[in-house]
Amino acid sequence: MDKFVINGPCKAFGTIRVSGSKNASLAILAATLLFDEPVELRNIPHVRDTTVFFDLLRSLNKKIIISKDKKKIKIYNSKKKISTFCSYALVKQLRASILALGGLISKHGKAVISAPGGCAIGTRPINYHLNALKRLGMKFKLKGGYIHATAKNGLKENNKINLNLSVGASENLIIASTLGDSTVNLHRVAIEPEVKELVMFLNSAGANIKWIGKRTLRIIGVKKLNRTSYTVNGDRIELSTWAVLATMTAGKLKIDGFNNIKLLKTELDLLRKIGASIKYKKNQIIIQGKKKLKNINISTKEYPGFPTDLACIFGVLLCKANGRSTIKENIFENRFNWIAEVRRLGGKIQIKGNKAIIEGNTKFQGAEELMSSDLRGSVALCLAAISSSGRSVVNRIYMLDRGMENFEKKARSIGVSIKRIS
Ligand code: EPZ
Repeated sequence: MDKFVINGPCKAFGTIRVSGSKNASLAILAATLLFDEPVELRNIPHVRDTTVFFDLLRSLNKKIIISKDKKKIKIYNSKKKISTFCSYALVKQLRASILALGGLISKHGKAVISAPGGCAIGTRPINYHLNALKRLGMKFKLKGGYIHATAKNGLKENNKINLNLSVGASENLIIASTLGDSTVNLHRVAIEPEVKELVMFLNSAGANIKWIGKRTLRIIGVKKLNRTSYTVNGDRIELSTWAVLATMTAGKLKIDGFNNIKLLKTELDLLRKIGASIKYKKNQIIIQGKKKLKNINISTKEYPGFPTDLACIFGVLLCKANGRSTIKENIFENRFNWIAEVRRLGGKIQIKGNKAIIEGNTKFQGAEELMSSDLRGSVALCLAAISSSGRSVVNRIYMLDRGMENFEKKARSIGVSIKRIS
């Protein structure tokens, strides 16, 4: 199993480019199940989660051609008949595989897909997905750990589907409602930028999807989707990760690759409050850290609130702030697994219910055999190790590889001493 050896403390200086958004890519890849025509996608990150999704699409008999420089992928229907079976072996590697359900049931009227189960950050049920698809006319049974779903006469009209602000359920239902001859109104739709990108992608291929309220979508079914070419925006969580690294190491980074900085208002405003200086030059963000950082209280919330995916990243930053900070986790029930390992670097953090209480002014000291808990937790450990004195070893970095493209290469380019050991 790969690990990182990091020799700190390092200061982050230079220019860095974020990769395409992992979570937008996963939703868009799932939506390609609706197409007969080829789809060209640019800026998909080549990380473990997207690679598993490529495998899932291949297992359903889609053909994927990746350009030599990996910047472009093309997805075709292969000559073999499309399969509607998503195996446990693939779904267990990636919960987002459940996003294939909406596309398969809408396009082929049936699907057999392994139930995804829980994961390190929580039980992560899929009841919102299944209940909403049921209201569109999907029938399903759970047999032997698999969801057996059918919609013999296609999915039908419904004006009152509530998606409870779930990102995945919103994406699944958008995909399921795109084709056909009915009109579907979706309510309490998640408005995370990745959901909005899925809508932009589908509309680029001739779908008829309109935001008719802040969190309400009207989808008028279309007969088919056209050939399209789409470029995925940068990854907002990756961007904030590098911004936090610049802030916590009192460095300076110019960050490229994200084309709508307004979408990051909540997290960048918080970084400013903590003490970073942030400037914009077109779509480049220039961020500079200071030696003295201010403590702050944060609560995670659905977009446009503070993202749960950044709680641990800001958590390690706040260890270095002047005074006590708190982070309240409101989305997932088990997202504090990173804390025990950060304590091994010297972090003074306590957990009370869904709140992490972080004492500031920590001078991290490197430690051996740190264990990554999940993707973002693994990244947070690396950031803490980069700002620690001495050598650290971060294990189980396959977690980080799920969602951060070329992490160590990018980190080295801005002055971090980091080596992968396989
Ligand atoms: C997406 O997960 C992201 N994953 C997560 O990113 C992200 O943390 C999360 O949204 C919240 O922003 C992808 O896009 C692939 P939800 P998702 O459905 O769709 C409960 C990362 O690190 N819920 O919005 O699974 C659920 O348990 C990952 O990149 C139900 O109860 O999140 C949670 O408490 C990790 N029933 C809340 O809703 C359901 O059917 C929000 O989950 C669905 C969700």
